[in-house]
Amino acid sequence: MATQDDLKRIAAEKAVEFVPENEYIGIGTGSTINFFIEALGKSGKKIKGAVSTSKKSSELLAQYGIEEVSLNDVNGLAVYIDGADEVNHVLQMIKGGGGAHLNEKIVASASEKFICIADESKYVSRLGKFPLPVEVIPHARSLVSRKLLAMGGQPELRVGFTTFNGNQIVDVHNLKIDQPVSMEDTINRIVGVVENGIFGHDAADVLILGTAQGAKVILPGQE
Ligand code: 5RP
Repeated sequence: MATQDDLKRIAAEKAVEFVPENEYIGIGTGSTINFFIEALGKSGKKIKGAVSTSKKSSELLAQYGIEEVSLNDVNGLAVYIDGADEVNHVLQMIKGGGGAHLNEKIVASASEKFICIADESKYVSRLGKFPLPVEVIPHARSLVSRKLLAMGGQPELRVGFTTFNGNQIVDVHNLKIDQPVSMEDTINRIVGVVENGIFGHDAADVLILGTAQGAKVILPGQE
């Protein structure tokens, strides 16, 4: 029987076909993207360079001889490839299981196309079973947590974790995310919140799901 890692690898390998040659691309963070960097490196496909969203992804890019560039040194990116913790049928997502969603959202917003790669367990009818990661300024953690509680969530500090930007993560359980875009905006308006893990404004353009029957390419609104 195919394992979850097998399904992640199936999606990651298929995504190489969606990478245009001679362009700059963005690279996300997580175990699925690790398989993608390996597949891209082994494919021999020539790109101009990649903008990374984490130390781990940078290390792997170097290992496979893919040149890393700074987002500040490019005008834009042709595609952004990344995994997700949950993704719905219009390709809105919850991300940030690895705590990198701020960097990921920045790089995604600089890209013409977002290609999400995931194993089929991540495809859900409603976002919110996966606890929503919210990056907070440490000083504002309790204040923000009280406001998230008032919104019906159960906030829990991610103990012993500091983000790339020196902040903390509060994971919010049991939020009912029926309207991802307005929930994304409402949480980001709480003073002290740096960024939350709902990708409603920055939904993916293409989803590649790894399934036991092979890679399935899904466009927004398609079942
Ligand atoms: C990291 C992320 C990841 O894309 C998400 O957690 C999925 O990870 P994985 O590919 O390991 O299942 O958002 O911040």
